[in-house]
Parts: sequence; structure tokens; C-alpha cells
Amino acid sequence: MLMLKQHFSANTQGHLVIGGADAVELAERFGTPLYVVDEQRVRENYQRFYRAFAERWSSVLVCYALKANFNLAICKILQGEGAGADVSSGNELRNALGVGIPGNRMVFNGNYKSLPELELAITNNVLINVDSLQELEAIEGLASRLGKRARIGLRVNPDVKTPTHPYIATGLRDSKFGFDVASGQAIEAYKLASRMQNIEVVGIHSHIGSQILDVGPFEEAAKKLMALVAEVKKLNINLKFVDLGGGIGIPYKPDDPELKPEEVAEHIVSVVKRVVEEKNLARPTLVFEPGRYIVADSGVLLARVGYTKKRPDMPTWIAVDAGMNALIRPALYGAYHHIELANKIREKNEQLVNVAGPLCESGDFLGKERKLPAAEPGDLAVIFDVGAYGLVMSSQHTAQPRPAMVLVNRGKAEIIRKRECYEDLTRLDQIPGWLK
Ligand code: LLP
Repeated sequence: MLMLKQHFSANTQGHLVIGGADAVELAERFGTPLYVVDEQRVRENYQRFYRAFAERWSSVLVCYALKANFNLAICKILQGEGAGADVSSGNELRNALGVGIPGNRMVFNGNYKSLPELELAITNNVLINVDSLQELEAIEGLASRLGKRARIGLRVNPDVKTPTHPYIATGLRDSKFGFDVASGQAIEAYKLASRMQNIEVVGIHSHIGSQILDVGPFEEAAKKLMALVAEVKKLNINLKFVDLGGGIGIPYKPDDPELKPEEVAEHIVSVVKRVVEEKNLARPTLVFEPGRYIVADSGVLLARVGYTKKRPDMPTWIAVDAGMNALIRPALYGAYHHIELANKIREKNEQLVNVAGPLCESGDFLGKERKLPAAEPGDLAVIFDVGAYGLVMSSQHTAQPRPAMVLVNRGKAEIIRKRECYEDLTRLDQIPGWLK
């Protein structure tokens, strides 16, 4: 057994308890593979993040990044906490509206926003973080046709190195995102936007990457953005929203460091304060777009052990009923997710194992060279920290229906996403007439 994060415990039967519910009972009641989300943990994470900044700066908007987990119940919890929304597609925007988050508390990000998506955003007064000149022109055209003024910010590329997986680092100069700062493109775009009739220029945005556990890159980005805010003010453009994106990481491995939101807030706010005073700027609203920090550690994946296979001098293979179809992060990024046996949570981890899923690919594993208690068919594996980028990135590879998701709170449990069934896999398929 490991040191569990504080929102987990073990009961007298030696079972893992999440949100007051026995994981073994949840698996029996709802079947496996099963995503389980702890409602109180989502609320606590949001509150801690919000307070870290709100206690240090008077105007703060925390926009939950729906891409981490756009399930409606999760969105509803965060709406209840007062969160805004960072949406990266029209459908995420619909989800956020659907749970009652007003458009003027949303930001819309991405390098390819389609015209219908932009129209939805403009109609609902969403702050659009523009990623290119062509997008800016498209917005001007649409807003004019709709008889509206579109609220926009510019996504800039601050060229900040981030110590994370290259697939999720977005702030380097060669990344596909944002206007280049160093060459002056960002300033030129501000000039152009400010002359457009149907555009209200209100913000600046950057997102340097994800799963960052070091405060340095956030501070560097804040400095670069604030320098630009001061530059832009010389053009008579006062930016009301300074949006530093998301990216605060969480400890996935037991010995990973923790990056406290208070530490990030302390550094960022002191940069903002200094520049605001030195350059005599109006105090902007600070916007943040955390996804992973809010939901990752609130979720676990429960998977049933089916078979075990011992081999001489090598880790024992343990096959569970969830693989890269249910959780792709290990296969895609080599990501580490901690694994335990939920029904043997107090037992010693003494067997060296590889944990594999049921798919016909060697990349289909959840963890390699891990230590678990001696595993047998029927045991229940628990994979931790899957509340962000888990079920939302799942697939139907090898015609595996996607798992269900259950919300737990003080011992109560209810389905928030149904398990897919065979009909869901074939529902959209059609056999052309000439084959019939
Ligand atoms: N804002 C923008 C513009 C983003 O692109 C992202 C994430 C976020 C906010 C939220 O970042 P967070 O706070 O969650 O780090 N699938 C990958 C993560 C991709 C993140 C993409 N952008 C993973 O599983 O690690």
C-alpha cells in the first residue's frame, strides 16, 4: 500500500474508499471498467485554485478548461462553484452554456475555430482568443453580419520553454499556436484589430503547456505578457483581461513534487502588480484556465483483473479489462498513472508486474514494472489521477464500448455517463445498398 492522497482512505476490509464509497462495491454495482469521480475533491481543488489568486488580486476569473473533462455533471459542479469556462470547440461551448455558465464568463481558444463555432461565440459574448490574422478577419466579417461587436483577445506565443512532454508544450516559438511576439507580429495584429469596426479588443492570452510542475515558466510568461500589455497601451489599447492559460501540473508519481497554486499566484501576481504600478496601467482581470489541476486527482479508473501470466526473470503480466481504449495517456505520452489493487489496499506491494489492457497492441498497457500485491483473477485494479484527459480521450478501438463514469459524494453514487453498449458501437454504421 502506498501513501494515498488525502481524499482517499482504506476501510476495515482493506478496500479503497473514494468519496465515502467502497471501490469494490462500486465495481460490483456499476461494472468495470469504471471511471469514478469524487465530487468534493473537484470542489476543493477549484476553491483552492480560486482562492490562491483571489486572495492576492482583486479581479480574477477562473475558467475551467472543459477539454480536461467536459461531462455535464462535472461542468455543473463547477458552475455551482462559480467557475467560468475555457472552451476549445463549439460543443464545449454548448456544454458550458447548458449548465448555466454565462457566455461573458467564457473564453474560446484554439487555432481552428470554424465559422459556425465563431458565430456561436460572438452571439453569446464569449471572449475569443484569436490565433491568426485570417481568423481575425473572419470574426470581423461575421460580427458585422450579425450586427454585434465581438470581444477578442490575441493569443500570443511568448516563446517560453516548459519542462513537459513535447506533445503538450505549446509556448515555444515553433508551436502552432498564437501570434509571434519576438518579430512584432503580435503588436501589428493589435494595431489591425483596434481599427476594425466590429471588434472590441479586450485581452491578451497565452498558454505555455500542460503538466508543468515548476513556477519559473509561469513567471516568465507573465513577464512577457505584461511587457506586451504595456506596449499595447502606447497604442491606446487598454487590455482588461490578462489570460495566462492553464498548465499547472499534479504529482502523478508518489515522489513527484507538488506545484502549489499559492506559489504560482504569488509569483504571477507580484509580476502583474509591479508592471501595473511602474507603467501606470489599469488593473486588469487575471484569467486562468486550469483543467488538470481541477479534475485530475478527483478521478480513478477501476478495472477487473482477468488473467495473470508469470514468466521467468520478467515482470508478471496482469491483464485487466481497461486498456488504451479507456485511458490512452500511458500509450500516447508514456504517462505514469499510479496503480494499486483496490481490494488489497493494505497489503504489501511485493510482486513486480506489467499491467496490460485487453487490446491487440503491445502499446496497450497502463503501467510497466510496477509493484503490486500478489494479483489474482477477480482482483480490482485502481488507476489513479484519471479525472483529466481520461474518458474524454477514450476510443472504441477493437470495438470496446467506452466505460461508464460515476460521481461519488459522501457515500452516495450515481452514474454521470452511461456505459456504451454494442448498439452504440454500430449505431452510426451503414451498409451501402449495393452490398446488400
Ligand atoms: N488552456 C488552453 C489554451 C489549453 O490548450 C489547455 C490544454 C488548457 C488551458 C488546460 O491545461 P491544463 O490546466 O489542463 O494543463 N491531453 C494532454 C493534455 C493536453 C492539454 C492541452 N491544452 C494530457 O493528457 O496530458
